[in-house]
Amino acid sequence: MAATEKTPVTGAGPFNGVLTWVDQRFPLMALWKDHLSEYYAPKNFNFWYYFGSLALLVLVIQIVSGIFLTMNYKPDAHDAFASVEYIMRDVPGGWLIRYIHSTGASFFFITVYLHMVRGLMYGSYRRPRELLWIFGVVIYLALMAEAFFGYLLPWGQMSFWGAQVIVNLFGTIPFIGEPLAIWIRGDYNVSDATLNRFFALHVAALPMVLLGLVAAHIMALHEVGSNNPDGIEIKKNLDPRTGTPLDGIPFHPYYTVKDLMGTAVFLIVFSAVVFFAPEMGGYFLEANNFIPADPLKTPLHIAPVWYFTPFYAMLRAVPPMFNSQFPGVLVMGCAVLILFALPWLDRGGVKSIRYRGPRWKMAFAALVVAFLILGYLGVEPTTVWGAFPEGFPLVGGDYIATWVARLLTLVYFFFFLGMPWYTARDRAQEKPEPQRVTW
Ligand code: HEM
Repeated sequence: MAATEKTPVTGAGPFNGVLTWVDQRFPLMALWKDHLSEYYAPKNFNFWYYFGSLALLVLVIQIVSGIFLTMNYKPDAHDAFASVEYIMRDVPGGWLIRYIHSTGASFFFITVYLHMVRGLMYGSYRRPRELLWIFGVVIYLALMAEAFFGYLLPWGQMSFWGAQVIVNLFGTIPFIGEPLAIWIRGDYNVSDATLNRFFALHVAALPMVLLGLVAAHIMALHEVGSNNPDGIEIKKNLDPRTGTPLDGIPFHPYYTVKDLMGTAVFLIVFSAVVFFAPEMGGYFLEANNFIPADPLKTPLHIAPVWYFTPFYAMLRAVPPMFNSQFPGVLVMGCAVLILFALPWLDRGGVKSIRYRGPRWKMAFAALVVAFLILGYLGVEPTTVWGAFPEGFPLVGGDYIATWVARLLTLVYFFFFLGMPWYTARDRAQEKPEPQRVTW
């Protein structure tokens, strides 16, 4: 059909004419219908389904606040720290923009972690959503890179030494490590060259990559349809008259309203942190980062920001081999990369936690507890719980926290590597899934 023959848009009041004009030249109504007014989502979404749209909101907040920060920030080792202080003290509203951006970074990870927990709980990574999950994991990796590059920009002590530690980890890779680390830094040390390239990656490359990945993530979601807290496929029960899922409701207006409510509550909590606790007791902004970077003075205790600490604790837990930290780096890398394999590790007969057997539930509870404690241990120095008494069998003199982190690292990996075994054994004890969604 020629563009101009498309049916005129009706029902949009005084804008019908304009919308018809646009629609005859651009698939506006088709996009609106496919992704909103005729995208059927399960009617039993619960609290956990807020975090996808909230992650999208935080992405927008970060990009907008980031653009305004870039207007006054100077990516130069001599000026960077002072330019951030200038934003905080002299630029009108600059303090607000900066606190929105720094708080947004932590809230990004809070929403994404909760979003991932939902995916685990309801088996949303399983067939037919494997690719959707894979896009999610790539987003998570890109988000980590984005946060890491951004953290160098204020050029404080933690920025500098954090980058130093992380780039040196790449240096532990056998054979290619050292040239790779130099290539990443653009220098033999973290320097002005490093700051410049991290700035380019943080403000241009990775935001674009993230936007593209999020678009692919949502396209993949809308191709297969959303999962739900019961983990059953609503597309299997269609209304014979309309051909739409009996347990589905149009995303717009039902879930746009639900997500608006989530957005309002989120913004209240977010503003409370921005206005009353932007440093969050040192967890969102660390005291050491209010001291300008000094390459000649290593801080006593270097720890990454809280969202990286579970992996940092794993890194520290693995003992060096042949004088190299590489085994720890490998374990830390595998802890993230193993998420890609998840859809193929699960042999359960059901998707949702509601109908899973006892082994999966225990392994999942252990994973959550292990991840949280590892997160805590990664913030603290390894000396935090003292050492085992000398003469204690096998571990005498070692730090208690190191051994706890070792144990919890095993618990973390057991959730994934043990999954083919325990989900298969669980089958006999799973509850039957309902035919229709429950709510
Ligand atoms: C910038 C970060 C992200 C954004 C903006 C985002 C956005 C969204 C949105 C809007 C949805 C649909 C609404 C919902 O189900 O809550 C969704 C679903 C989903 N996302 Fe994400 N996401 C992000 C990161 C991730 C990550 C890191 C993962 C996993 C590693 C992931 C896995 C999933 C899965 C499995 C679904 C389908 C859930 C279901 O239908 O039950 N996402 N995402």
